[in-house]
Formats: sequence, C-alpha cells, structure tokens
Amino acid sequence: MKRERVRHILTTVPTGSEITVKGWVRTCRKVKDLLFVEINDGSDIESLQVVAETSLAGYSQLASLTTGASLAVSGTLMESPAAGQRVELHAKDVEVYGPADAASYPLQKKRHSFEFLREIAHLRPRTNTFGAVFRVRNCLAHAVHTFFQRREFLYVTTPIITANDCEGAGELFHVTTLDPLKGASDYSDDFFGKRASLTVSGQLEGELFATALDRIYTFGPTFRAENSNTSRHLAEFWMVEPEAAFSDINDNMDLAEDFLKFIITAVLDECPKDMAFFDKRIKPGLIGMLESILSSNFERMTYTNAVDLLIQSKENFEYPVKWGSDLKSEHERFLTEKKIGRPVILTDYPRTLKPFYMYCNDDNKTVRGMDVLVSGIGEIIGGSEREYRLDLLLDRMKELHLNEEEYGWYLDTRRFGTVPHSGFGLGFERAVQFVTGMENIRDVIPFARTPKNLKF
Ligand code: 4AD
Ligand code: MG
Repeated sequence: MKRERVRHILTTVPTGSEITVKGWVRTCRKVKDLLFVEINDGSDIESLQVVAETSLAGYSQLASLTTGASLAVSGTLMESPAAGQRVELHAKDVEVYGPADAASYPLQKKRHSFEFLREIAHLRPRTNTFGAVFRVRNCLAHAVHTFFQRREFLYVTTPIITANDCEGAGELFHVTTLDPLKGASDYSDDFFGKRASLTVSGQLEGELFATALDRIYTFGPTFRAENSNTSRHLAEFWMVEPEAAFSDINDNMDLAEDFLKFIITAVLDECPKDMAFFDKRIKPGLIGMLESILSSNFERMTYTNAVDLLIQSKENFEYPVKWGSDLKSEHERFLTEKKIGRPVILTDYPRTLKPFYMYCNDDNKTVRGMDVLVSGIGEIIGGSEREYRLDLLLDRMKELHLNEEEYGWYLDTRRFGTVPHSGFGLGFERAVQFVTGMENIRDVIPFARTPKNLKF
C-alpha cells in the first residue's frame, strides 16, 4: 500500500483510499472495544487517528504501545465521525518497529518546560512545539534562497576557517591542531602555519565576490566567542549575508526591508497551522503583529536622533544613554516597541562603535552602518555601505592597527575597479525567534552552543 504522510492524509488523500502511515505514537487509548492511536510523523502539527478493532491481527501488540513507539499501520481511510478531523484510518495491518518504555521515555503527555526539553534536545523535535519550530525554520531557510535567487543574487559559500577577524571584536574561536597543554610558542608548527579561527562573518569574502559577480549572498554558520549568556546570543549561529555592488546605504535598507517582509509572508502562507499554534500557545497576537509589519513602512532614523529620543523619553533604563555609546537591547526595544511601534532601521552610527569597513560620512564622526530593530528581539540585522575609497579605508585600518599586508587581498578590491557596495547580515536564529515568538534563541536551533554548554 502507498505510504502517505500525515500532512496529506489530513487534507487531501481521498476517503476510501487504502494507505500506509508510518510514524510515532502520541497517545494510545482504549474505548470499549476500540483502540484509538494517534500517530504523528513530523509532517504536521496534528496527528492522524488510527482506529483498531479487537479482531485485528496484532491488536494486543498495538494495544500495548505507549507514547514514543514507532510503527506502520495500513488500512482504509474513512470519514471521521469525530469533531475537528476530516478522516481517520481504520487499521487492517500493523507493523511495530520499536516500542518505547513508558517508565523511562522522558516525553510524557504532560507539558514540559523548555529548560527541561533543552536537556533532552535529542528528543525534543518529537514535541508539538519543536516540530513546529523546525518546520518553520525550514520554511524560512527556503524563503531566504527564493528571495535572493529571484533577485539574481548568487549563492556563494564563504569559508568557515579563516585568518581574519571581520568584525574586529576579537571574539574568535581558534582552530588549531596544537595541544595547548604542550605549550607551543608560536603558530609555525600549527596546521596552517598561522593563526586560524572560525569565521565571525562571511562578509569580507562576500565582498570579493560581489565586486566581481555584482550580487551575492552567503548563508552559513558563524561563530562568536562572546561570553553573552542571553536569550539572543549563541556561540554558533547561522547568518544570511547579501552583498551588492553599485548599491548604497538606501538601497541596502530597501533590500533588508523587502527581505524581512518576504520571509514573513512565506511562513504565514506556507506554515499556517504551525503559525496558528505559536499564536495560540507561545505568543498571543503574533500573527497580527507579523501581518502589521507587512503593511508598514520601517521607520528610518539616524543613531543621533535615536539617542535624542531615548534621552527625552525619561525612561528608566538600566544602562544610561549618551551619544557615542552602544545602544543596549533595552534601548533598541524601547525604540521599536514603545516609541515607534514598528520596525526601525537606525543608521549613521558613531565611527568608533563600528568595524573598520564601514563608509565614513563627511562629518568624519559617523559611518553608514545600519541596524534593523524589531520587537521582542532588538537587532535582527546589521549591515552597512562599505568604505570603497582606498585612502580612507587605509586610514581607518591604521587607526585600528590592522595589518595592511594581511588584508592585501581585501584592499585589492579597492585598488582595482572599486565600486560603491553594501550588504548586511541577518541573524537567522533571531529571525526564527521573531516569527515564532519563541523567547529563547536556544530553542530555535537544533543543538545550541552557548558558554559552558556543549552537549550532543
Ligand atoms: O551585526 P553583526 O555583527 O554584523 C556582521 O557580522 C556583518 N559582517 C554583517 C554584514 O554586513 N555582512 O551580525 C549580524 C547579525 C546581527 O544583527 C544579529 O542578528 C546576528 O547576526 N548575531 C547573532 N545571532 C545570534 N548569536 C550571536 N552571538 C549573534 N551575533 C550577531
Ligand atoms: Mg551588529
């Protein structure tokens, strides 16, 4: 018999069809002479109800199954008399793959805390919430590629092991084959013969390709050894980084806004059931909030104006605000959630707060960086127009004590046929958090890597 997945069985497979379903038992209960087994196969947040009569061969084996057991059931799909479901499967044949011992299976029917489920991250995809999270994550990833492919951006994979620190924040994980306990004195004996690390961003390599192929994007893992134990930081996270030649900061803001709206539309259209679940169980009002973003224009504001607004607000912030200091998440969230009430793009940050590669404004104090701020998260995107004028870039590198020779390959893009260009990075997990309403970033990536936490 043809195997069908629950997602299709629930909606389109015609009644009367003889089909097989394979999956895991969610619940199994006996009502008089009938056995009702809910089977979920991960394709849908809902499960399929299987009905078995005592005359079924293998009935007693089926009746002994508990939550988590795996099986295949073949039978006839019938219209269901029960409310809230179109169909149910009347079992004719059962094959059990593996039982799950009820006494030791950690996922019982009751609701578990996300903290507990993090400890059993290898089993949590079997729960409703995490099934929904990872289906939505998949949808978002697909939408990322669709958006850029439609706009003729080429997908470029940039290296994971690098010899540069793009963001200049020194938050690098080192890559070495030397044993630190054996006390090597320099890197000449190391695998690459020089200091190597895991990339914090694919931007610099992305720029090399954008200044040849015009429009590119990377979408890959990035690593930061920042000791931030917050609900928005991971040591290993995925970043989407488009880079476009002949594009200034305004084009960059337009691209970022269109991009966010596109991926939000995709999850609302393609994952309606999962999104309804998040709206009901995780963050009431989520869908309305996302829909309102689609019809809004993002507010665009300079950092300087934002600082003025924050100071005027008389809000009781934990960290004081003054021109020249970094905005904290509380400030970003105040601006987007309370003050403006929709996404905000901040631009023209003080030069001293931003990395070496950003285009310096004529005031010589601010650079054409931009951060996109959204409710519940704060910064979801960071980007900039790049400094494409060789002399100014060199000045900035000197100021920051960056080694000109080491960045020779990067400077060549400015030496030979330099062009205005810009790009940004979307923190992919922050995007998943944003559209699902999940509170903690550890709950939107399969296996979170955070300080003092490396299980699985
Ligand atoms: O603002 P960031 O540091 O920008 C860059 O890395 C640029 N090179 C991107 C570019 O212009 N091509 O990081 C970009 C985004 C942030 O806005 C945030 O969403 C996310 O990456 N991010 C993190 N997400 C999870 N955990 C962390 N530790 C993150 N650090 C940054
Ligand atoms: Mg940033």
